[in-house]
Amino acid sequence: MAKRNKYDVDESLEKGFDFSKLKRSIVYVKPYAKLMLLALGLSMLGSLLGLATPILLQQAMDVAIPNGDVSMVVWLAVASLGLVLVSTVFGAIRGIIMSHCGQSIVYDIRKDIFDHLQQLPFSYYDSRPHGKILVRVVNYVNSVSDSLTNGLVNAILELLNLFFIAGYMFSINVKLSLIILSGMPFLLVFILLLKNVQKKANFENNNKNSNLTAYTCEAIEGVKVSQIFRRQKENQKIYGRLNREYQKAWYKAAYLNNMMGPVTENLKQWVLCLVYIAGILWISPSVEIGVLIAMATYASKFWQPVISLANIYNNLIKTMSYLERIFQTIDEPVDICDSPEAKPLPDMQGRVEFQNVRFAYEKDYYVLKGVNLKVEKGQRIALVGPTGSGKSTIVNLISRFYNVTEGKLLIDGVDINDITLHSLRSQMGIMLQDSFIFTGTIADNIRYGKLDATDEEIRAAAKAVCADEFISQMEQGYDTPVTERGGQLSQGERQLIAFARTMVSDPAILILDEATSSIDAKTEKLLQQGIEKLMENRTSFVIAHRLSTIRNCDKILYIDGGEIKESGTHDELMAKKGYYYRLSTAQD
Ligand SMILES: Nc1ncnc2c1ncn2[C@@H]1O[C@H](COP(=O)(O)OP(=O)(O)O)[C@@H](O)[C@H]1O
Ligand SMILES: [Mg+2]
Repeated sequence: MAKRNKYDVDESLEKGFDFSKLKRSIVYVKPYAKLMLLALGLSMLGSLLGLATPILLQQAMDVAIPNGDVSMVVWLAVASLGLVLVSTVFGAIRGIIMSHCGQSIVYDIRKDIFDHLQQLPFSYYDSRPHGKILVRVVNYVNSVSDSLTNGLVNAILELLNLFFIAGYMFSINVKLSLIILSGMPFLLVFILLLKNVQKKANFENNNKNSNLTAYTCEAIEGVKVSQIFRRQKENQKIYGRLNREYQKAWYKAAYLNNMMGPVTENLKQWVLCLVYIAGILWISPSVEIGVLIAMATYASKFWQPVISLANIYNNLIKTMSYLERIFQTIDEPVDICDSPEAKPLPDMQGRVEFQNVRFAYEKDYYVLKGVNLKVEKGQRIALVGPTGSGKSTIVNLISRFYNVTEGKLLIDGVDINDITLHSLRSQMGIMLQDSFIFTGTIADNIRYGKLDATDEEIRAAAKAVCADEFISQMEQGYDTPVTERGGQLSQGERQLIAFARTMVSDPAILILDEATSSIDAKTEKLLQQGIEKLMENRTSFVIAHRLSTIRNCDKILYIDGGEIKESGTHDELMAKKGYYYRLSTAQD
């Protein structure tokens, strides 16, 4: 077995693989059922027209030519041409309809999966590489359209074909027809035997594809660090290994999927042999030579749709493996959602209370071990303490990015779980450590949380947080285009833009999680006034390292090991000569 590496973490699926997934996808097919029926009708008409051509030919050979009727030959030729033309037009219309249906279904599935991804809580994203999510939205969704449209329509057509031919066959000779059908049980047994192996191979193929995409994404996101540590060679090796594994899995799946064709083809030839042998043995009085030849032709015709159906089935199996993952994502529970009792809290005052709050990211591993805290409207709270002590976790709970595991968290005296998420987050200004900048202009980024903000409001907000100066110096000012992650801006500039963004949204509760960590001391001093302004009349939680930022807060909490070890004003804590005293004297 190939050596596994840490990038090769295969996904597992909770539920088994079954055809109920196909039933579920009917929801997506249903809106286009009428169009697909139309396409089916056109295909059937096309087939009927195809049947008429030999009749015209036969008329020409048997009637028109022996009689020397030139005008009849011409008319028959024109009619044949017309038939060809009409069936070509039908074919083209069917093609257009099916492409439309296929793309619409893909559009709908992709929309649903994206909508759901927007709702999923932080914890979903914490626990999986983003590339694995990407591959579902982009690759898998693209791959299901053909099976759900052409696959379904062709399956119906081929089934009709099959019954039609079988009926005709039986009407000519029952015994020989039964011989022609005798290959079917073998085919069914083969399909059943292959099904599980095929399922496993497709599953493996998807896993390897997912691993490769995840690593590609990670490598792109981390390219700067990789180059700093000269990891190119090592990364190429890892990529090579994942690439090879995907290739191997792909070959295996393709090999198994392609087995169906030759096996069915072989069965068809065996059946044909049997028909000839039986026919010759039974020849006259029960079977005439003409009947034998006709039956041999029907044997071929009968097995043609069987081969097509086998191929459609194969594609369906592959599609099912994609649908499995797509539906798994769409069904991923949204743990952070409005409870049935949830009510909006229109005029949030900003009172926050933690009642013996315990919290674990992973089961039974408590990061917060009983936090008790009461914050009044407009108070400024600073959180200090060593890295990993739980400061960010505390503020994440106030924004309800995670649900409290034990205990209660109240906002204005209401349990946070009973406030609608919309009303909670729309009145909360949160600045995280990493200020994300979205593709668009600087103005778009500042307007992000309040789409109807005027240009004046944007400028005023930027001025208040000292961002106006550097923005105005840019050639295009507020209309300067920026891209995802704000590559062309400095970290500090990104933070200033994020400050302006928070300022514009005018929140009741403000959370600054190391929001000034990348800003130089001089700008920070200037910004201090902006922050002061931002904090006016709002309850604020500030996590910062510089004592200048926290000194004036109403209450300073010293957090360590998921507990509040000390709390009080700067002067009180200094007098106490405890943790905070040691922290601040170490900084001076
Ligand atoms: N998403 C997460 N999943 C699991 N553990 C986490 C997660 N985020 C933080 N932790 C853990 O929780 C603890 C507290 O983290 P955090 O609140 O971010 O600390 P601080 O902000 O004080 O540096 C740390 O031990 C950290 O490893
Ligand atoms: Mg933190």
